Amino acid sequence: MALLPPKNRLWWNEPLHRMEIVWITIAFLWGIAMFSTMIWWHIYGEQNLSNESYRILPDVYAERVDVMIDAYQVGEDEFGMPIVRPPVGSDIYLQARLWDWSPILELVEGESYRLHLSSIDWQHGFSLQPTNINLQVHPGYEMVVTLTPNAAGEFGIVCNEYCGIGHHLMTGRINVLDREAALAAGMQLAAGE
Ligand code: CUA
Repeated sequence: MALLPPKNRLWWNEPLHRMEIVWITIAFLWGIAMFSTMIWWHIYGEQNLSNESYRILPDVYAERVDVMIDAYQVGEDEFGMPIVRPPVGSDIYLQARLWDWSPILELVEGESYRLHLSSIDWQHGFSLQPTNINLQVHPGYEMVVTLTPNAAGEFGIVCNEYCGIGHHLMTGRINVLDREAALAAGMQLAAGE
């Protein structure tokens, strides 16, 4: 009971009970083990996402997104979201806002891109499905990661930082074309066969 002050005022001088020191040791070793997994994953996880980030004003970022959309839009989906097919190797932009991810990027399997991620309003979370890739997306900062899709298909994006009443509706998409489809569409590819 801790309602009353301890009888022995110098309680910190009392010897530790054996069970207590055992638990402290277990907790300490577990902490070290968990910390090591972060270092291990950074080296061997093949998903080194801690990369570059820069300060950027939301307006400036939004304008870069619009410039890319204007230059490379190839269509739009049933909700009017632009579908954009940027050149391989280029700087590409994915904008988070309440409550969508804009635009739908069409990328090519095996090609690398510099993906710039930022938000123009709130904190959002970029979670790429079905892979285990998660990034926090903040207004005022852009995060830049090198992205090389290793499989063709449609990949969903969900927001995984709570951002208000539309949070659960905040989804997006990245389409990855296989190399033959990209060549058939007349795209210039950079990576060798
Ligand atoms: Cu955006 Cu949750």
